[in-house]
Amino acid sequence: MEQTFIIIKPEAVKRGLVGEILHRLERRGLKILHLQMTKVSRDLAREHYKHHADKPFFPGLLDAITAGPVVMAVLEGPAAVAVVRNLVGATDPAKAAPGTIRGDFGEELPFNMVHASDSPETAAEEMERFFGFRQAPAWD
Ligand code: PPS
Repeated sequence: MEQTFIIIKPEAVKRGLVGEILHRLERRGLKILHLQMTKVSRDLAREHYKHHADKPFFPGLLDAITAGPVVMAVLEGPAAVAVVRNLVGATDPAKAAPGTIRGDFGEELPFNMVHASDSPETAAEEMERFFGFRQAPAWD
């Protein structure tokens, strides 16, 4: 069983989409192992997006993720990383397929509603960064 990590971003929280997004993920069979509402500090945001520090959109990306509360979760299921990325859709909402979270709700980048880890290794790193563990314990 694989685990992955998501952030429901401030623009989605503000629009009241937390339930809708979690519902889509749960409906597909993903199990929520850990769930937290919090705010991302500028320092953690810089660390999280450090691979893009040289991009022109970096400051805007930091502004967007620190703009308000977020909901972070660890999800578990077979091939959870790929399954969640497919449900979330392409990075740019303009290119995301209808039926995906970004395709249905996304605005213009950087407002694409959800961040989802791109590999099991990244998921472990991101869980460590935001939760202080590399794998969520099972409940049963
Ligand atoms: S992905 O989905 O992580 O594989 O996408 P990637 O292309 O690697 O992009 C990493 C994050 O940078 C954001 N991004 C942008 N923000 C604003 N403007 C532009 N043009 C842009 N291009 C990429 C992208 O949304 C990714 O952040 P997350 O939070 O994962 O969506």
